[in-house]
Amino acid sequence: MVRRSSSLNRTRIDHLEHAHGRRDANARFFLHYGDMTDSGGLNRLVKTVQPDEIYNLAAQSHVQISFDQPEYTADADGLGATRLLEAIRTAGLRTRFYQASTSEMFGLAPPPQRETTPFHPRSPYGAAKAYAHWMTVNYREAHGLFACSGILFNHESPRRGENFVTRKVTRGVAQILAGRQARLRLGNLDAQRDWGDARDYVRAMWLMLQQDTADDYVIATGVTRTVRELVEIAFGLAGLDWTAHVDVDPSYLRPADVPVLCGDPQKARDRLGWEPTISFAAMIREMLESDILAEGLTPRLAAL
Ligand code: GDD
Repeated sequence: MVRRSSSLNRTRIDHLEHAHGRRDANARFFLHYGDMTDSGGLNRLVKTVQPDEIYNLAAQSHVQISFDQPEYTADADGLGATRLLEAIRTAGLRTRFYQASTSEMFGLAPPPQRETTPFHPRSPYGAAKAYAHWMTVNYREAHGLFACSGILFNHESPRRGENFVTRKVTRGVAQILAGRQARLRLGNLDAQRDWGDARDYVRAMWLMLQQDTADDYVIATGVTRTVRELVEIAFGLAGLDWTAHVDVDPSYLRPADVPVLCGDPQKARDRLGWEPTISFAAMIREMLESDILAEGLTPRLAAL
C-alpha cells in the first residue's frame, strides 16, 4: 500500500517488478493507494484484496519528528493499527497480521529488554506504538485474530532513510570523501542502540506469521553500541579521523531520548529458530559502499 504524494518517492521499491492494478498477467507485485488515517479506504482494500498476511510497517517512524507531530503520529501509528485490525475482524477474514512494534516502547526501562519488560516510552512515537502493540495483543485475545507483534530493535540497510543516524553518518562520510561537505552535524553521541541488519529482521517478521500460534517477539542482536562508536567505525573504514569532521548540534538533541537499548532475543531463538547473520561492521561497510558509489566514487574501504 502506498500513500499518494505529488512527487514519487518509490526509489526503494523501483527494482521490484510492479504494476498498479491487476491488468498485467505477469505482475506479482501490486501497489494500492491507501492511507493509515482513512478507515474507509483500508476497509475496502482489505475486503478487495483478502490478503493471507498483512505486515503493518506503515508509520510516521522518525522519533524526533514525532515531538513536532504528536497527533498525526498517534493517528497513523496508533489508531492506524486499530483500523487495520478492525478491517480484518469485520471482514471476517483469517488474515494473519504482523504489527511493527519497536524497542522505542521500552524507553527508560533498563536493559536487557525482553518481551516481559514493562514499557516506558520516551516520545509520542513510542507512546503511539505502545498503544498499537496492546491493541494487537487485544485483538488476538478478544477476537482470536492471528495477530503478532514484533518488537524490533533498530535495523538498517543501504535503503535506510537519510535522516536516521546510521544512514546520515554513512552518507556524510561519502559526501566528505567526495569533497561535497567538510563536516557532519549530529546530536546525542552517547545514546546506545542495538543495531541489526534489516534483512535478518524482515526474515523474523515472516517467521512469526508462519507459526502455529500467534505471539510477540523481541528481535535484536543483544549487542549495544554508542552513536560515537558507530561514527568511529564508519569514519575509520574510510580512513578518516571522525574528530576532525563531526560537530554536535543541539538542534538534533531530542526533548527526551532513550539512553540504552539492548535486546534479549532468546524467545525468538528458541521458538522461531531465528539468529542474526550479518554483523554490525559488515552492515555499516555495505551502507558506506552504497553511499560512496552514489557519489560516483570507487569505494576503498578498510577490511573488516
Ligand atoms: N536521527 C538522528 N540524527 N539521530 C541522532 C543524530 C542525528 O543527527 N545524532 C545522534 N542521534 C541519536 C538519536 O538521538 C538516537 O538516540 C540514536 O541516534 C538513533 O536515532 P535514529 O537513527 O533516528 O533511530 P531511533 O533509535 O530514534 O529510532 C529508530 O529505531 C526504532 C527502533 O528502536 C527508528 O527506525 C524507529 O522508527 C524505530 O522504531
